[in-house]
Amino acid sequence: MCGIIGYIGKKDAFPILISGLKRMEYRGYDSYGFCVLKDKETPFLYKKTGKISEAEETLLDFKVEGSLGIGHSRWATHGGVTDANAHPHFDCHKNIFVVHNGIIENYKELKEKLIEEGHTFVSQTDTEVLPHLIEKYFEGNLEEAVRKALKDVRGTYGILVTSNADPDKIVAARFSSPLILGLGKDEFLVASDPAALITHTRQIIHLEDNELAILKPNKFFILKEKAPTFITWDSEEAEKKGYAHFMLKEIMESPETIQNATRGRLIIEDGSVKLGGLDSVSEQLKQIKRLVLVACGTANYAARIGKYMIEEYAGIPVEVDVASEFRYRSPILDKTTAAVFVSQSGETADTLAAMREMKKKGLLTIGITNVVGSSQARETDAGVYTRSGPEIAVASTKAFLGQLSTLAMLTVYLGRQRGMDVTEGKKIVSELLRLPGLAEKTLERAPEIEKIAEKYQNFKNFWFMGRKYHFPIALEGALKLKEISYIHAEGSAGGELKHGPLALIDENIPVVALCPDSPIYDKMISNLEEVVARKGKLIIIATEGDKQIKELTEDVIYIPKTLDLLTPILSTIPLYLFAYYIAVLLGRDVDKPRNLAKSVTVE
Ligand code: G6P
Repeated sequence: MCGIIGYIGKKDAFPILISGLKRMEYRGYDSYGFCVLKDKETPFLYKKTGKISEAEETLLDFKVEGSLGIGHSRWATHGGVTDANAHPHFDCHKNIFVVHNGIIENYKELKEKLIEEGHTFVSQTDTEVLPHLIEKYFEGNLEEAVRKALKDVRGTYGILVTSNADPDKIVAARFSSPLILGLGKDEFLVASDPAALITHTRQIIHLEDNELAILKPNKFFILKEKAPTFITWDSEEAEKKGYAHFMLKEIMESPETIQNATRGRLIIEDGSVKLGGLDSVSEQLKQIKRLVLVACGTANYAARIGKYMIEEYAGIPVEVDVASEFRYRSPILDKTTAAVFVSQSGETADTLAAMREMKKKGLLTIGITNVVGSSQARETDAGVYTRSGPEIAVASTKAFLGQLSTLAMLTVYLGRQRGMDVTEGKKIVSELLRLPGLAEKTLERAPEIEKIAEKYQNFKNFWFMGRKYHFPIALEGALKLKEISYIHAEGSAGGELKHGPLALIDENIPVVALCPDSPIYDKMISNLEEVVARKGKLIIIATEGDKQIKELTEDVIYIPKTLDLLTPILSTIPLYLFAYYIAVLLGRDVDKPRNLAKSVTVE
């Protein structure tokens, strides 16, 4: 982990590698490195802890020449954050260079054997076994050596390999870790993320598992030729557009996110939705008796809300689990169950592994994914794109709203296949159409939210709570605050407060409560009274017009009224802004919080 870039062509590789890695910075990393080759000269190798953007001028001063190079940004898994552990890694003679995403699971035994055979290791990483294995098998042809080396390896990898011993080529290989080839004019790029390619070319090829690509200055070769696909994302969409942070820009894009997810899919007259990606499995979906929704992190909280929506309106029992649990327990499954995987990136290793296992078991697999052409999108039987556009900030925000909008549409889709009548369908569909406007109104509260954030910025602990649709939102609000501000925050169901968390409540732990108008409003009010009685401080998200709530606290953030099941799409927005402003006030690295990665491609 975390970002890979390679270039071969006619231009100087070094600046291209730098800008490629910078475009992937949003994924989070702690060190970086490059290797640039020129004729038979000693390769330029540079590896450093820290951030590329902070060292860019110094790097460019190196005036590195050479039109072939590989680069990597590392998010430490095996071995600490040190220059030596940064990639590229090399063999005993500094002649074979490798960058790697993923984990070599059997690296310990391989390393021991290689050391016995006389190889010298200089890092603590799992990756370093790769250049040594390739060295061991090298007989003049790099791809042959790579192919042989990978046979010994267990685990996941996206790798680039280059060497002056077989010059003018980059060998790329993947297993369970993305690698994308960019086909330019007289040049080829290869990266782990399309964001690094879009300024150079939009013709891309996704490398598949067990495939090996050989890139030469004017031709490339893969085991299986495939038709290029076209990226529709704009490089402009991946810019900050004047906002201080990507996260703020992405929160501010909430209205468009909902609109993009629903555009062309809502059929008002009929009270139904059109989800083209499910056409091929629509008959199968009619027979489904149960759903399991599987996801990680923020996407998992979206799935939990999806459960409430689908059970209430489509009448299908739904189970939700985090992917890393789901795959290792023994879920009871049969062919009347369909598995739905929710993932922004479509590359999260745990979610992919769970998906592959369900496919093996013969279950119908559906993906709710943002990234077009991602592994999840390609491997599920059918799916729906959330069309949220590139999300750059590590902490997911707008993608969550895209997931919720998509899950609401899936609810109508499945509901209309079952008991939901036209009137009910119309109610939800027409409200979904109004939702971008309501999100716009919610965003107008930003200055008030900023003031509340100023008031509460110095508290060390926060409690979030909500009921029904807002229970998962409470968990998401707490997650966002801890992710980007590093303040301890937890969330619970309102009704659970008295079963434990109440013991914590006093004037030192503010409670952020989701209490919009809903059938369980009164129950939630009782929970809030329990907090007030213990001198707890309340920040409440409530529905416009609710004056009674002001008796409980002066810190109320109002959101517009919408249907119960769609309210989470609005109530999340103030929580995102609250976390954002607190993190900014505390001087945190909002877009790239410490220790976290955007797309977790290792288990
Ligand atoms: C990481 C990110 C989270 C994200 C989670 C799942 O932990 O930091 O923001 O929610 O992965 O990612 P996915 O791409 O599968 O939605």
